[in-house]
Amino acid sequence: MEINEVTSLTREGDIAVLAIDSPPVNALSLAVRKGIIDALKHAQDDAAVKAVVLLCEGRTFIAGADITEFGAAPASPNLYDMQDALLAATKPVVAAVHGSALGGGFETALTCHYRIASPSASFGFPEVHLGLIPGAGGTQRLPRLVGIEKSFQLITSGAPFNAKQALEMGVIDELTGENSLRADAVAFANKIVQDGGPLRKIDDIDDKVVSARGKPEILETLLKDADRKIRAAYTTDYVMRALDAAANLPVAEGLALEHQMFFELMTSEQSAALRHVFFAERQVWKVPGLSADTPARAIGTVGVIGAGTMGGGIAMNFLNAGIPVKIVETNQPALDRGVETIRRNYENTVKKGRLSQEKAEARMALLSPSLQLEDLGDVDLIIEAVFENMDIKKEVFGKLDAIAKPGAILATNTSFLDVDEIAAATSRPQDVLGLHFFSPANVMKLLEIVRGKETDPANVATAMALAKRIGKIGVLVGVCFGFVGNRMLAQQLREMKGLILEGAMPWDVDRVHLEFGFAMGPFSVADLAGLDLGWSRETSTGSTIQEILCEMDRRGQKTGAGYYDYDENRRPQPSPVVEELILDFAAKNGIARRTISDEEILERCVYPMINEGAKILEEGIAIRASDIDVVWANGYGFPRSRGGPMHYADTVGLDHIVARLESYQAKLGEDFQPAPLLKKLATQSKAFNA
Ligand code: 3HC
Ligand code: NAI
Repeated sequence: MEINEVTSLTREGDIAVLAIDSPPVNALSLAVRKGIIDALKHAQDDAAVKAVVLLCEGRTFIAGADITEFGAAPASPNLYDMQDALLAATKPVVAAVHGSALGGGFETALTCHYRIASPSASFGFPEVHLGLIPGAGGTQRLPRLVGIEKSFQLITSGAPFNAKQALEMGVIDELTGENSLRADAVAFANKIVQDGGPLRKIDDIDDKVVSARGKPEILETLLKDADRKIRAAYTTDYVMRALDAAANLPVAEGLALEHQMFFELMTSEQSAALRHVFFAERQVWKVPGLSADTPARAIGTVGVIGAGTMGGGIAMNFLNAGIPVKIVETNQPALDRGVETIRRNYENTVKKGRLSQEKAEARMALLSPSLQLEDLGDVDLIIEAVFENMDIKKEVFGKLDAIAKPGAILATNTSFLDVDEIAAATSRPQDVLGLHFFSPANVMKLLEIVRGKETDPANVATAMALAKRIGKIGVLVGVCFGFVGNRMLAQQLREMKGLILEGAMPWDVDRVHLEFGFAMGPFSVADLAGLDLGWSRETSTGSTIQEILCEMDRRGQKTGAGYYDYDENRRPQPSPVVEELILDFAAKNGIARRTISDEEILERCVYPMINEGAKILEEGIAIRASDIDVVWANGYGFPRSRGGPMHYADTVGLDHIVARLESYQAKLGEDFQPAPLLKKLATQSKAFNA
């Protein structure tokens, strides 16, 4: 029987199967909640029904509350009304899980009397990634099944666990067959009926939590031993309070506290920002003009040119995905060094227990080193990662034009150079695009896919699909100096260098960034990357602090000193040498130093970046503002809890940003002139992410 557009109830003997079919992920929308309540009522009223199986159609069990509803008051019936209906059922309800039971989906299963799952199913509370805690009983019911310690780990990390682990932990009662969930669930329910199985409610179980009652030290120790990220997360304190309630309060009081904290977090700026990033990361894949029908090319083999910092990391992405790679260098020592670095990377992962020796060897076996560009004649995609020099890149692409098979995609990993000019060095510019990886290329999630003016849409579609295949977040961008990320970064770099001459110290600038939420300050990043990128002693002019530091052999962490001094554990210390150098340099250049506030540091580093983002949007280099946020959240450590630069600008207010930029423009010049789009949106009281 159809209950509503997303739920149905079907009788199978004594058992009623309540099926949810609400693509894509069966989130707990209003229609789903209503459907479950109405279906349960039918099942209750039907004397022939002895038990209910709750399951989902499609690719997954309920993957959570409907995140699109967050931020506004929940429509009635809300999630708690739905759970009350489940808890009030007088016939056993069995949740039958496949795919992912996440967040509110997992909590729905925890309000059922029994839980079974297919072997490939998984469970978890990913709420912390959205700046939330489980808010539909998860913090009270999970501890009653698995104890306080395990609950702390699972909820603070947001990490999923599989059905086998769920069975071992007592979260589920049984595993079903992989392809017989429905039949096995009906059989399980029949057995419960025959055995007169009780209406087992988690709320009535407390043996797993009593051991923590009156012992606050248990949670304190868990927090002390947790890793840095978890200790720093602002949601952790809420998890602690909720678990303390689970241990010490009656379940109804614990639930009430959890609900109150959930709503407090849901209406926070941080959660709104994290939800923005969640949807933005899914939006990037939607490219106007490209559809599922756009033909993509098959990529079975890849060539990488250059086995330096980037080439090696790039190659690893494909090896990890089981795609054979040919890597080409100009000379044997460079080739050997590159291959050795890849091997060492895999060995380290094996040592950490995150990869088996066999898998590491299988990946290395997919790698073919070569000194001949001609060897790339049969691969489907070639990625060039040679020196950042237009003449060299053009020469390489000219040669590739003669070597690559027809239809092969020719990509450049250039950081700044004009992809159209590189494409023009070939007779097939439609096959050329940019694939801009970020360092370390085997780790960083971001991939800027640069569409040239002649790039064939099929190649864009292929690159997007490939990004997904190798686990990257692919953001499509257009051609300009530095594309989206590096072009905006240039604004920050200019200002941070200006600020230390005008009055701040590198550690002041870094501290302000850390307080804002960046994982590292920009000067620490510079020290880590090496101050000598693109620098050489022969051409050094000593005209910037960075050049002088290189000349002093303070080239960053690798030399034990850069903007900071480093101890033997690579811990940074403010450097008196650098302080004196900066004061000296400013004096020699006639720069009068003054006290610079933290507010000025933040505004001058972030607002010009936002302004550049507006220009990027206006020029159509990025498809939408949220794509820029995805670039910054995944490639440059912009705090996700601020939502990326464009979302952050929206929260601050565009009129405020314009006013501050104009004020700096009056004092410091045209670098701060507000972009026309920014001014226009501010005048209209609009936002970037409308
Ligand atoms: N609410 C609304 N929409 C959601 C959603 C949710 N909980 N989860 C996923 N979607 C949407 C996505 O936005 C996407 O939409 P689109 O096709 O229009 O872009 C679509 O579903 C498919 O999502 P994915 O691309 O992520 O699909 P995958 O197959 O790669 O992954 C998944 C599936 C593992 C379920 C993944 O979508 C996921 O992790 N979802 C979020 C799960 C989550 O965070 N749940 C907790 C929500 S908070 C909560 O439940 C609070 C509670 O405690 C009260
Ligand atoms: P690198 O100097 O570490 O490596 C370049 C390698 O290319 C060297 O090993 C060199 O021997 C080799 N090479 C030069 N000419 C060649 C040719 N004709 N044929 C084959 N091999 C050749 O440089 P890195 O850092 O790996 O940069 C490579 C490219 O990636 C540049 O365009 C750079 O701008 C870009 N990039 C660099 C990032 C970084 O953080 N290092 C980040 C993103 C992009």
